[in-house]
Amino acid sequence: MRIARAVAHSNIALAKYWGKADTERNLPAVPSLSMTLDALKTETTVCFDEGFLQDEVNLDGALAAGKARSRVITLLDAVRLRAGISTPARVSTSNNFPTAAGLASSASGFAALALAAVHAAGLEFGREDVSAIARQASASAARSLFGGYATLAANGQRAQALASAEHFPLSMAIALTVMGPKDVGSTEAMQLTRSTSPYYSAWVEAAPRLFDDAVNAVKQRDLAALGAAAEQSALLMHASMMGASPPILYFQPATLAVVAAVRELRVRGTLAFFTMDAGPHVKVLTTPGAVEDVANVLRGVPGVLQVITTGIGPDASVQVEAT
Ligand code: PMV
Repeated sequence: MRIARAVAHSNIALAKYWGKADTERNLPAVPSLSMTLDALKTETTVCFDEGFLQDEVNLDGALAAGKARSRVITLLDAVRLRAGISTPARVSTSNNFPTAAGLASSASGFAALALAAVHAAGLEFGREDVSAIARQASASAARSLFGGYATLAANGQRAQALASAEHFPLSMAIALTVMGPKDVGSTEAMQLTRSTSPYYSAWVEAAPRLFDDAVNAVKQRDLAALGAAAEQSALLMHASMMGASPPILYFQPATLAVVAAVRELRVRGTLAFFTMDAGPHVKVLTTPGAVEDVANVLRGVPGVLQVITTGIGPDASVQVEAT
């Protein structure tokens, strides 16, 4: 029996990944840059034991079935193939944030799973090789192996560390807004955007320049430039989806109300910038000194249910507990 327990933090892309260059291998069509979040994390334990009859997957205290289970098994199979084993596994995972709230849990979830599974299987992989395994399940998960700022190239197999939290300490206020009808999953939505949106090619063409701007802004510790690139990246990504048929619209009235509040904060001199993923929530990038004031303003916006504040998170970590 071998047990490994891993912790990985979620991340938010400031230069977005949207669209696959290769659906089979899950390679991104555009480069992305993210910030790892200290407050949102997943803890996952993987145990391989010949005594188990079959794989068992426990997500937040309930046995997983269907697609959630099969995505975990596919990752376990990739690890077993590399380790040359066929041992069944028990996986147990928990998030410190509500999964049902619609905050992306796949990034921290698949990063923690890949790291725990690799170590429980006895493989001596570096962080970037674990990132490649996580990427096959969810490209954004590849970035969650790294703390601070991380990048994933277009067609990239593995993410890379760009800069530490200490190099450019920033904060984020995450405004959870009222959810609409059930959201379309990111894989399906990307596919639909690529195959039907007339704006998809414009997005793929524009994304690398915004990525370069974001990388330079992180290197130069320039929040105004990073925020401008992040807002344009998010809006261009959403514009490409809105052009799909049928259209994909994640925004709710509260989403736009938060965007308006952020723009108002800027008029009054606070450096704050918005970004939205495949859901109605808004993540607001700002300085550690301003984050509590920003959060209080967002709490007053109609339709905002909860605001979580966070700094930049660390590398994913793992402990082998028994062999
Ligand atoms: O990794 P996925 O398949 O969950 O896609 C994530 C896509 C976005 O969150 C919208 C953007 C990103 O780069 O994280």
